[in-house]
Amino acid sequence: MLFSKIVLFEMIHLNKTLFITGGAGFIGSAVIRYIIQHTDDVVVNIDKLTYAGNLDSLSMVSDSPRYHFEQVDITASGQIQALFCKYQPDAVMHLAAESHVDRSITGSRVFIDTNIIGTYCLLENARHYYSSLSGEKRTHFRFHHISTDEVFGDLPNTDAFFTENTPYDPSSPYSASKAASDHLVRAWHRTYGLPVVLTNCSNNYGYYHFPEKLIPLMILNAIHGKPLPVYGQGNQIRDWLFVEDHARALYLVLKEGKIGESYNIGGHNERTNLDVVEQICEILNRLQAVGKLAKFAPQIGHIRDFKSLITFVADRPGHDLRYAIDASKIEHELGWRPQETFESGLEKTVHWYLENEAWWQRILDGSYQLQRLGLDCEESR
Ligand SMILES: NC(=O)c1ccc[n+]([C@@H]2O[C@H](COP(=O)([O-])OP(=O)(O)OC[C@H]3O[C@@H](n4cnc5c(N)ncnc54)[C@H](O)[C@@H]3O)[C@@H](O)[C@H]2O)c1
Repeated sequence: MLFSKIVLFEMIHLNKTLFITGGAGFIGSAVIRYIIQHTDDVVVNIDKLTYAGNLDSLSMVSDSPRYHFEQVDITASGQIQALFCKYQPDAVMHLAAESHVDRSITGSRVFIDTNIIGTYCLLENARHYYSSLSGEKRTHFRFHHISTDEVFGDLPNTDAFFTENTPYDPSSPYSASKAASDHLVRAWHRTYGLPVVLTNCSNNYGYYHFPEKLIPLMILNAIHGKPLPVYGQGNQIRDWLFVEDHARALYLVLKEGKIGESYNIGGHNERTNLDVVEQICEILNRLQAVGKLAKFAPQIGHIRDFKSLITFVADRPGHDLRYAIDASKIEHELGWRPQETFESGLEKTVHWYLENEAWWQRILDGSYQLQRLGLDCEESR
């Protein structure tokens, strides 16, 4: 009895409390599912629930006593301060952001507010909180800023790769706002000694991805018999990483990354956008041929080759041609490697969307947004 009490005490003592900002988003929810399922840490999900936040993505872990949700805007500095006082976190993983490049072109203001001012508010609160810490809690405190390879801008279509030393050269309001936030994080380390780590990752794909992004958009449009819009000639090259590989890498960097350092994370999966869309079509063609798309038959109609739905549309302004990550630092220093190939990850992703209609249907009909107003209920499903 005494022994088990000691073990319980030590377990409680060892559990770390992690703030995850943006935990209701695509990558944040993957990080929370990973932490609740694979560690003993306690998670506090801090999310404003913008259109991109969806608590349905956390349904498999939200009953855990180690999961807490706080609907807070990261620009609300007073509320963030109160959360630091309430939970006394051991680390912050900062993922909250406006993340869609197209939206940043048509409405950049909210990108400046959340990505720059929001990061500043978090940094200031983390700095004051950190200065109040002592002993082990102070030694182990970390602020992990999650960023993108888009801060590096365009790569010539050669064998060049983004390394951690590539100069920043962002092209879109989104990537410029993320670049600004990266600079703030580094400045708070150099000027105030805040123990930070940074990661810059390539394009993610996988489960629970909001259907405005390329891969889920193409899957859902295809099974609804709608056109598959491809920018320009579809020759932009992106380096794709399965989101669960990213979540694993982020936790590893939080635990093992060196203070003040940044780590590039990528999947070694360079594909043109057109290749990606055609590969999705090929998977769906195969499933259609063996009758696995029967439940979507009314929308699909007589389509036999989904590639016939591909439609080229006017290119996005300032569209970078190629991103490609050199992930050798995280591989050599921390021993991380992606577990999914693009082929295996894409196959799993297509199947997930076909099997999880309830998740995306609530996005398409808008009912998932009732969560934001605290109105979610069975009747709305
Ligand atoms: N998706 C990618 O391919 C990718 C690649 C590399 C890096 N990143 C970075 O990873 C992070 C997460 O990306 P994602 O794709 O999961 O984004 P997402 O758009 O799916 O999710 C963002 C989340 O942040 C929340 N949020 C937005 N503004 C907020 C605010 N002011 N206060 C509190 N919460 C707010 C939203 O409600 C949402 O839950 C971002 O910082 C992004 O820049 C994304």
